[in-house]
Amino acid sequence: MKVGEPEEFIIDGKRLDGRAPDELRPIKIEAGVLERADGSCYLEWGGNKVLAACYGPREIHPKHEARSDRAALRTYYRMAPFSVNDRKRPGPDRRSVELSKVIRNTLESVVFLHLFPMTAIDVYIEILQAQAGTRCAGITAASVAIADAGIPMKELIPSCASGKIDGKVVVDLFDTEDNYGEADVPVAIIPRTGEIALLQMDGNLTQEEFEEALNLAVKGCKDVYEKQKEALMKRYGGE
Ligand code: CDP
Repeated sequence: MKVGEPEEFIIDGKRLDGRAPDELRPIKIEAGVLERADGSCYLEWGGNKVLAACYGPREIHPKHEARSDRAALRTYYRMAPFSVNDRKRPGPDRRSVELSKVIRNTLESVVFLHLFPMTAIDVYIEILQAQAGTRCAGITAASVAIADAGIPMKELIPSCASGKIDGKVVVDLFDTEDNYGEADVPVAIIPRTGEIALLQMDGNLTQEEFEEALNLAVKGCKDVYEKQKEALMKRYGGE
C-alpha cells in the first residue's frame, strides 16, 4: 500500500465520493463563453474545470504546416500552474505534448478537414483545475467548441473513462481513485455509429474486466453526449 492510500475504495457499495460504481461525477457544459474565439466551451466535470477555444478555419502560420488536401487541426492541451495540488511548472512538458496529440487524433476522426485545405483549425484546451480525467473532459469540451465555431463535423465526440479500484470496475475515476487505482481506460466514441474514436489503457485488466470497463465507459460517453447536445441547444435554440 502506498503512503496516503485509503484502505478501502468502496464501502457499502459507495465510492469515497459517495458515487455508485456506474455513476458519473456531475457535469456542466456551456457553449459560447468567449467573445474573441470562433467557438468556445466551458466545462465542469466533478473537480475538473476546462476552457476550450476554437479558431478557424484561418490562415495558417507557419506556412510549411499547410496541407494541400485538408486543414491542419492543431490542438494545444495545457494545464494551468494552479490546476493541480503541487504547482505545475508552466510551459510544455511531455505529458501535455502527448495529450495534445491524443486529443487531436480523436477529433480528427469527426471534423471535415478536407473542406478547408491550406488552413488551420486551432483548438486550445486550458485545464484550470484538474481532478483526473482531464483528457476526456478536454475532448468533450473541444468538440463542443468546434461545433460552436460552426465547423462541419460528422458528430460531436463525447469522452469518458472507466477504471478499476478495489478489484472492481467503475466509471469516471476521480483523483484519489486514479492515483491508487489498478487501471484507467479513457474512451471516446462517435455516438451515431458507435465507433470508438479513442481507447487507451493504463494498468492491468483481465479480458472480462476490460469488456466491462469498455461498456461502462461507452455508457458514460452516451450520458456526456446528452450534456453536449443540451449545451448547444441552449445556445442555439431548437427542441
Ligand atoms: O487527466 P487525465 O486522467 O486524462 O491524465 P493523467 O495523466 O492520467 O492524469 C491524472 C490526473 O493526475 C490529472 O487529471 C491531475 O488531477 C493529476 N495530475 C497532477 O496532479 N499533476 C500533474 N502534473 C499531472 C496530472
